[in-house]
Amino acid sequence: MAIQWYPGHMAKARRQVQEKLSQIDVVIEIVDARTPLSSRNPMIEELVEQKPRLVLLNKADLADTEMTKRWLEYFETEFSKSLVIDAQRGKGMNKIPEAVRSLAAPLLEKWKRKGINPRALRTLILGIPNVGKSTVINKLAGKKIANIGDKPGVTKKQQWIKVGGEMELLDTPGILWPKFEDEEVGYRLALTGAIKEEIFDFQDTVVFFLKFMKVHYPQLLKQRYDLEELPEDVVDLFDAVGKRRGCLVAGGLIDYDRVAEIIFRDFRHGKFGPVTLETP
Ligand code: G4P
Repeated sequence: MAIQWYPGHMAKARRQVQEKLSQIDVVIEIVDARTPLSSRNPMIEELVEQKPRLVLLNKADLADTEMTKRWLEYFETEFSKSLVIDAQRGKGMNKIPEAVRSLAAPLLEKWKRKGINPRALRTLILGIPNVGKSTVINKLAGKKIANIGDKPGVTKKQQWIKVGGEMELLDTPGILWPKFEDEEVGYRLALTGAIKEEIFDFQDTVVFFLKFMKVHYPQLLKQRYDLEELPEDVVDLFDAVGKRRGCLVAGGLIDYDRVAEIIFRDFRHGKFGPVTLETP
């Protein structure tokens, strides 16, 4: 898969995030519940260092509920306090202020010891593109603050948004570059929309997806394309879906590009039902 990861972009993103972090008490990291590990930036541990951190597994509505439970356990054990949310519908988000407060307990304690009047806790949303940062900001703010689908690199004057009485949120999220030395990570990021369509190969991505679905969600695959059995070979599977969807070219051959595009779009639009693309 010919996806490039540019050190220049990464260095810039790191600088921008570091500048913001100096003002922050608690970091809120968002990951995609369908691919929680691949949608993290490996640099985050080093960047966030000693700051308390809340991890949000977003887009829970699109992920496999059982797997999300397992991922939540994994994240709580390995990383930090975590919550499962569906930002689009605002589900699970009322727990965020309380979770932030509990993570900041040592800081609040320190202020108390030093006789400092407690101020609102300052938070920053951090994550790779398309995990739902703007959606979360807008939901927490109760109005449109951040542009959904905003592109990285657009700068504007930052403001603090009040969330309840005890929490403030920076209105501009910290955007991290997705990193994928591993090909499979790239495929998962392509499928979940974290990387642009122009930079990956539909067919390779869909081959990965079909192989994964055959092992983990064969029933969903059969249902979607009305197949009684799933062929052993992935090319035969392309053929079977192509026939079902009428993707034929001259001579009765299958148009593989079209088949790949259909399957890819079906996944992006949640047509298979809840699916999680990696296991803890
Ligand atoms: P970002 O700031 O991290 O880049 O993400 P943003 O909030 O812009 O959200 C990216 C897409 O994901 C948006 O859809 C948004 O509506 C959707 N989204 C965010 N949270 C959730 C969630 O909990 N569940 C579901 N189902 N969708 C969510 P979009 O603009 O239509 O883009 P796309 O879906 O075509 O990628």
